[in-house]
Amino acid sequence: MNWLTCLSASALIGVGASAGAQTPKLFRDADLKLGERLIRENRCSECHARKVGADGSSIYRPNGKINTPAALRGMVDYCSTELNLGLFPEEVTAVAAVLQRDHYRFGISPAARPASGR
Ligand code: HEC
Repeated sequence: MNWLTCLSASALIGVGASAGAQTPKLFRDADLKLGERLIRENRCSECHARKVGADGSSIYRPNGKINTPAALRGMVDYCSTELNLGLFPEEVTAVAAVLQRDHYRFGISPAARPASGR
């Protein structure tokens, strides 16, 4: 397990396609149920929570280095490789799509964010 290299990767991921007004095309066919299950099974939030506290969700910063759908998917892909999760490409997309829906919401107006979310 080597998440330090996973982190430094986020600086390397370039600018991706710009987001449209709704769900980015990249995530439109994603299997959200699959993504939710993979996030649970791979204990993503548990590790993030150890780092940032609470439920770990504040580790996701839509205005940080990860600021396009492509960069988000790229980060999940890189982390999957570094953490040896062995995810298939469509699983990477599914995980990224759930993070998009619940946290990043690229291309979706702030008014559409869930009231309880940050
Ligand atoms: C072993 C611990 C660990 C595990 C397991 C882990 N992460 Fe992370 N993750 C981190 C740390 C630490 C950071 C970066 C924190 C920082 O930049 O300060 C991070 C950052 C991220 C980011 C970038 C956040 C941003 O906006 O900058 C994403 C996306 C992410 N992780 C997704 C995942 C997903 C999806 C999984 C499960 C498949 C996962 N991580 C599993 C430790 C982990």
